[in-house]
Amino acid sequence: MSLAQRRILLGVSGGIAAYKSCELVRRLRDLAAEVRVVMTEAATHFVSPTTFQALSGQPVRVSLWDAQAEAAMGHIELARWAERIVVAPASADLLARLAHGMADDLLTTVCLASAAPLYLAPAMNQQMWAHPAVQANVACLRQRGVQLLGPAAGEQACGDVGSGRMLEPGALRDILLASFGTGALAGLRVLVSAGPTYEDIDPVRFIGNRSSGRMGFAVAEAAVRAGATVTLVAGPVSLPTPTGVTQRIDVRSAAQMHAAVLAAAREADIYVGAAAVGDYRPLEVSTLKLKKRAGTPLSLKLDENPDILASLSAQPAHPFLVGFAAETHDVAGYARGKLERKGLDMIAANQVGDGLGFEAPDNALTLYWAGGECELPRTAKPELARELISRVAERYRAARP
Ligand code: PMT
Repeated sequence: MSLAQRRILLGVSGGIAAYKSCELVRRLRDLAAEVRVVMTEAATHFVSPTTFQALSGQPVRVSLWDAQAEAAMGHIELARWAERIVVAPASADLLARLAHGMADDLLTTVCLASAAPLYLAPAMNQQMWAHPAVQANVACLRQRGVQLLGPAAGEQACGDVGSGRMLEPGALRDILLASFGTGALAGLRVLVSAGPTYEDIDPVRFIGNRSSGRMGFAVAEAAVRAGATVTLVAGPVSLPTPTGVTQRIDVRSAAQMHAAVLAAAREADIYVGAAAVGDYRPLEVSTLKLKKRAGTPLSLKLDENPDILASLSAQPAHPFLVGFAAETHDVAGYARGKLERKGLDMIAANQVGDGLGFEAPDNALTLYWAGGECELPRTAKPELARELISRVAERYRAARP
């Protein structure tokens, strides 16, 4: 992975997350990128320009009215120099100024004067992020093609918990890498299924499962970051589409997911089945609400759903197939069985039950493939998904050089 000769302009606006941007400069420089930093005046209250100067090896610009700096490289020249502009952190104030097309300091002027793709990594208090004014600015910027990266949810510097944390430097670096088509899955098309399926019993009841979609959505996001073109088939979940996913297809039942995945798989190089697909559905779906009959046990007849992975592997030309195995016991035994029986290239096994796997923010996986296995220790699902995608990329390149 290299960013040699890539020209990245890092904008830093005023927020406590500015300290993380120092690490971002290091990570970009590690990959040999040329980095120039423009700070807002507010940002200098959090981190000194000298720090960014030392890390980037380039003079740092703050003011539009710095005659000496303008003589060395004018702001229009700087705007033309940049191949990518990433503003991290992007404060609520900066989002507002950009949304309104203001050019009242060097950073906003350069953003307006540049044709380079603009990436914004918002960071602010969760209440500010949720404010309708901020959300309206974000919607306006998105509509103009600006890429919003995050924010992530979690504990905040102010003590609040919620959405508004800046994405980690490693994640930002991966997104920039992928934007230059240099990620581990660059040029590949990845199809991911995520979430549960609902099998209707009558108009008000269904058979479902505990999948939140978090694991599958994290896999889709990690694949985007690795440079893939990603299609996401999602069961009924309430998660936002990860940034950069090209197409999202929402389905409800296993039959709908089966049809959607099989159609999309024609255009996919890799399929990752992270969805918890219902194995059975009611043989008959009542059009009217079933009425309770006190004292009489109710039986439901269930019919087997088609297996998506098995259907794909039965096709003569099919994507590289990665399944998941969710098991409460004998995880390795059942996972290896599914790897073979479903004709998979790789399977990611997780222990579930007692709060593990389903719904949880973190997870652990053991990967199995013909002739190998590897442990991915417990960590947050986005991080785990990045590890998984990196192993999938390795196995894919080995299997289909
Ligand atoms: O969504 P989260 O809350 O984040 O939880 C994550 C998870 C636990 C759901 C995820 O990590 C996971 O294990 N997903 C697979 C769940 C599952 O249904 O496992 P399974 O062992 O029953 O199925 C094995 C594989 O066959 C899976 O890849 C599944 O997508 C696939 N399958 C199953 C049934 C079916 N009809 N067609 C299929 O393709």
